Amino acid sequence: MDQITEVSDWVIFIGRFHPLIVHLPIGIILVGISMYFLAKKKKFSQLKGAVPFLMGAGAVSAILSCVFGYMLSFQGGYDAEALNSHQWMGVALAVFAVLAFVFMVWEKTKRIVVLQSGLMVFLLVGLGYTGHMGGNLSHGASYLTQYSPDPLRKLVGLPPKPEKRPPVTVLDSADIFLDVVSPMLSDYCVSCHNPGKSKGDLVLSSYDRIIKGGENGQGVVIGDLKESELYRRVSLPEHHDDFMPPDGKKPLSGEQIKLLELWIMNGAPEKGQMGDFQIEGDYLSAANKVLGLEGHGGNSLARKVEPADSLIVASLNAKGYVIRTISEGSYLLDVSFVAQKNLENVSIEQLLPLKDQIVYLNLNNRNLGDKDLEVIGQFENMVRLNIHSNPITDEGLSFLAKLENLEVLNLYGTQIGDNGLERLELLQKLNRIYLWNTQVTPEKVENLKAKYPDLEINIGEEAS
Ligand code: HEC
Repeated sequence: MDQITEVSDWVIFIGRFHPLIVHLPIGIILVGISMYFLAKKKKFSQLKGAVPFLMGAGAVSAILSCVFGYMLSFQGGYDAEALNSHQWMGVALAVFAVLAFVFMVWEKTKRIVVLQSGLMVFLLVGLGYTGHMGGNLSHGASYLTQYSPDPLRKLVGLPPKPEKRPPVTVLDSADIFLDVVSPMLSDYCVSCHNPGKSKGDLVLSSYDRIIKGGENGQGVVIGDLKESELYRRVSLPEHHDDFMPPDGKKPLSGEQIKLLELWIMNGAPEKGQMGDFQIEGDYLSAANKVLGLEGHGGNSLARKVEPADSLIVASLNAKGYVIRTISEGSYLLDVSFVAQKNLENVSIEQLLPLKDQIVYLNLNNRNLGDKDLEVIGQFENMVRLNIHSNPITDEGLSFLAKLENLEVLNLYGTQIGDNGLERLELLQKLNRIYLWNTQVTPEKVENLKAKYPDLEINIGEEAS
């Protein structure tokens, strides 16, 4: 279909009624077919008289549907190949509906009756198939399968649904592939690049296949944007023949392309938290935008949070705390302590006025005891807590069990042991824990690994 042709708005306006009026021939012809076959039973034979009328009405509405559909096609934006076959199936159906009507009013010879039945069966199958293709055109081919439960997916040979990602609350704990790249490709590309329909022999629904690429070679070459066909295709000028997505479909935004670049330049990992990359400037604002973390407060967690009192922040700064917002425009705070003295005379209670704002807290080597953890336990928005190299014990850990947002916990170089860890098992969001140089036994670590396969347990290297 030539989509360059300029047509009047009227044509497209009327065309948009196509999805509505196609239901007329579908409904009418289905009723006609049912009555036709029912009427063969003596009990329902009086239905026979209505069938020619229904097939006639079906044929007229089928022709109308074709005309409306043709008008709609000028709107553009459809996959040309799928549109073409839907279109010709539609025309064929209209022709067969007319034939069915003609044979219905024709003289009844035995031959005609056989023809009638055959036509009816063809119409039935054709209606289902054409309707389904039309649905795929307007909703995308994954419309029906997207929400299908896993057992059904298995039955039709689809891979199990990817696990739902929890919503991103803070940028640093978003995953560059799972929360950024993969959803982006799913939304913009997978409709044409999936195992069922792999244009250019390219599948963009799994990590391995994304890297592998298609006919023209590797999709992603780590650290090399020029050689990464995937990147090249989305960053070309929009009118370029190779530009993706094609056919005037909605292109990736500049921010999304920036993040794709960030991912490729940082090793294109299958998993990796944003906090582990140095994200600054354009990349930072792009990430906040794409993840929906920008705007008031700069962060979805921040929406509930008021800005911190600047006098309190200033007085804490004076005492040796380093207090920063976690990203531009955010009220959430990253607090650490650098002064060359310990916390003995700088009590942790001083941080309590900031308990809603603090999401990252780094107080390693500060001589914190279990009592101090009782205070930290009130910092309900805490996401990353680093309290390594402090004399804390299992006792103190139970105070942390209330930190529902906690994702990363560094306990390296503390007195905690197996019992203490058990108190943390309620922390649903915890995904990384550092346990080097603690009393925790290797058995306990194995046991945790088996129980929580997604929990990353670091027992080897020092981490700050
Ligand atoms: C409307 C369907 C459609 C959509 C949506 C689409 N593509 Fe394509 N893609 C194609 C077709 C058709 C080809 C093969 C023709 C060609 O190479 O241009 C192709 C080829 C490619 C290739 C080259 C593969 C190879 O090695 O030959 C890449 C890379 C690519 N697409 C990436 C993307 C990305 C990234 C997106 C999402 C931003 C996307 N495509 C969205 C239809 C689509």
